[in-house]
Amino acid sequence: MCGIVGYIGVKPVKKILIDGLRELEYRGYDSAGIAVLQEGSFSLFKAVGKLIHLEEKAHDYESSGFAIGIGHTRWATHGKPTELNAHPHMGANSYVVHNGIIENYQELKAMLIHEGANFVSQTDTEVIVHLFEHYLKNTPTPFDAFKQTLAKLEGAYAILLITGSASDTIFFAKNGSPMIIGKNSDNETFFGSSDAALIGKCTEVIYLEDGQYGYASGEVIHLYNGESHDVTLRFTPLSGNKLSAQKEGFRFFMEKEIYEQSHVLADTLMGRLRDEQIHFEELESGLFEGINEIKLCACGTSYHAALTASYLFQRHAAIRTSVEIASEFRYREPYLTSDTLFIVISQSGETADTLESLKMAKRHGLKTMVICNVDNSSMVRLADASILTRAGIEKGVASTKAFATQVCVLWMLSLYLGEIRKTLEATEIRRQIGLLRTLPSTVTVDSNMHEQLRRLSKRYLHGHGFFFIGRDVFFPLALEGALKLKEISYLHAEGYPSGEMKHGPIALADPELFTIALLPQHKLYDKTKSNVEELSARDSTICSISPLDFDKADDHIRTKQLDDYMLEFFEMMVVLQLLSMEIAIRLGNDVDMPRNLAKSVTVE
Ligand code: F6R
Repeated sequence: MCGIVGYIGVKPVKKILIDGLRELEYRGYDSAGIAVLQEGSFSLFKAVGKLIHLEEKAHDYESSGFAIGIGHTRWATHGKPTELNAHPHMGANSYVVHNGIIENYQELKAMLIHEGANFVSQTDTEVIVHLFEHYLKNTPTPFDAFKQTLAKLEGAYAILLITGSASDTIFFAKNGSPMIIGKNSDNETFFGSSDAALIGKCTEVIYLEDGQYGYASGEVIHLYNGESHDVTLRFTPLSGNKLSAQKEGFRFFMEKEIYEQSHVLADTLMGRLRDEQIHFEELESGLFEGINEIKLCACGTSYHAALTASYLFQRHAAIRTSVEIASEFRYREPYLTSDTLFIVISQSGETADTLESLKMAKRHGLKTMVICNVDNSSMVRLADASILTRAGIEKGVASTKAFATQVCVLWMLSLYLGEIRKTLEATEIRRQIGLLRTLPSTVTVDSNMHEQLRRLSKRYLHGHGFFFIGRDVFFPLALEGALKLKEISYLHAEGYPSGEMKHGPIALADPELFTIALLPQHKLYDKTKSNVEELSARDSTICSISPLDFDKADDHIRTKQLDDYMLEFFEMMVVLQLLSMEIAIRLGNDVDMPRNLAKSVTVE
């Protein structure tokens, strides 16, 4: 989500770092910073907001001759987007930049404060630099201190660290977050969290693997693996195309974002799952006191996440739950009571209708919460409480990974509430936490499945419409599947509860009406199957998505046998995203920027 760069060499270091950060800015931009070490003295610049603010702050600074530097563009996870929370974080004589989350930072911080360390930020990252300096006091070399520091860290990280004790050296480590080292024929050394930051500067790179760490001094790189074994440096050539580097080999950002759902869901879950408990560090304990009802409010895809949550909140937490489309809610003169928690859901945090609904709820004195992907957004600033979904920047206009992370947070929140309200047994919470842990592997795209969908897509390019149907949480998923298809293929599609078809829409059934039927094994399978059979009997063309065989289908997409309907939900979500994308690609549409749409809808 954040971006990291580093440089060792004789060229003007500020420009190199800021140029690299500019290539990474699309990943996160709530603050940025650089630290440069030249001839034993440090220069540090940090600024909140876009990179341009950092450039303005560092305007008068120039280095000449050999220097080392590290830089970072931040997408906040711990602590608000302020200058103090921006990276690089400093100790007495060292600086660090970090991507990922240090899960045990609170206990490390307590220990370091006890030892006399002075913390200035709210971030998890700052513990790294203080821990390093703590070990440096009693260790023969800075590299030993760095190794001891890594041994104490739990969680995911990509780290660059520089210190006055080794003024030609950058220490680096990777575990769970990407880190690349690059070289060129001028013997300069570069670091980047994505190759987009290195293109045009390096000719060859090493993609570090998890557990690798080391240091680069001047022109020499020393790389080790987990057991302190020297690793042979194996460089690979770096391609020269920036846009394709950002897309990381995928045809569209949407495709890349579908594939990265596994990683972003791991980020969403990080630090939030205990054995028998969901842990939301950002929520105050009294938030749900006196709350007897939940009202969820959102637009578009986020509304579909809200609808999904309404099933889970009632089922897990036995709490009255209603769902509102924000543009309707605003003008409906709703009856609101102060025992209601008002939760808005928004990827951007800026959608005008949702933002106004949030303001309205606040005016009525309701407690408010936002589930959002952008930390410094208007909704996060306004709501009483917020939970960040940690999806990273979504570039494709059609939302994919943002939806996945919203549903994941809402599922966790339903368990969190179930525990507070004592409506779920500890064994059931434990079971569902076990399921949540498998989400990243559940949404990993199976290449055979993707190929089947690509081939199948050619049969669905015409017709007079699509019905996506399902029951329970598979009804909001059907709505979302239909929305994905219409947004990027421009074909007419509707989502419907499968039991409702016989109350009118079944009149449309004929071979040119395509029914995409969601038939999960673990939720109302027989009921949904009967509804699909009714459509099949009227000669609608049926494409079923199910782990179980279905002989009335014209096409069948076989999903995995999974342990629970929520896992089936997430797998079917991926199938629907890929199917829409493949249909849109065959129709020759611009999948990332469909006509008439905008990523952030800040008008009514
Ligand atoms: C569909 C999509 C939109 C958004 C909607 C709300 O793919 O992205 O329907 O979900 O405009 O946006 P946010 O979540 O930013 O409030």
